[in-house]
Amino acid sequence: MNKYEIKVVLLSGLLLSSFLFALLYNAFSRKIDTPACIPYNAAFEKGHVRQLDDSTCEVYVSAHMWGFDPAEIVIPVGTTVEFYLTSTDVVHGFNIDGKGVNLMAVPGGVNRITVPFNSIGTYRIVCHEFCGIGHQNMMGKIIVKDKIYQQ
Ligand code: CUA
Repeated sequence: MNKYEIKVVLLSGLLLSSFLFALLYNAFSRKIDTPACIPYNAAFEKGHVRQLDDSTCEVYVSAHMWGFDPAEIVIPVGTTVEFYLTSTDVVHGFNIDGKGVNLMAVPGGVNRITVPFNSIGTYRIVCHEFCGIGHQNMMGKIIVKDKIYQQ
C-alpha cells in the first residue's frame, strides 16, 4: 500500500465511524426508536388518539391525498407517543420537525415508531414524498401543551 492508499483507507474509516456515531447518537441520546413494520389491519386506516396511561398514548395516523387524519394531535407535555402510520391511497411521507422522525406511509402497510415529547410546543408534520398536486400543502401538527391547561 502506498501513502495515498493509506490516506483513503483512513478517511473512509473516519467517515464510516462518523455515520455510526450519528446512528448511535440518535438511537440513545435522543431516545429515538427505530421504526418497525407491523402486520396490517384495516383498523389502522381510521386515525385516532388513544390514551394508554398518564404518560403514554397511541396515535393511529392515516395519510391520504392530501392530509393526515388526525390533522392535529394535542397531547400533554411528557407524553410518549406510539405512532402507527398507514396510508389509504398512495405512498406519503411522515416527517416530524425537530424530532428526527422520517417515515413512509404505505398503503397496506403499517409503520410504528415511539417518540417522546418532553418540551411544550408545536411540531409540524410534513409529507416529504411527492404524492400529487396537493403534496406541498400536505401537513399536520402535534401540539404539546402544559399539563395544567389540559381538561
Ligand atoms: Cu403526501 Cu406528499
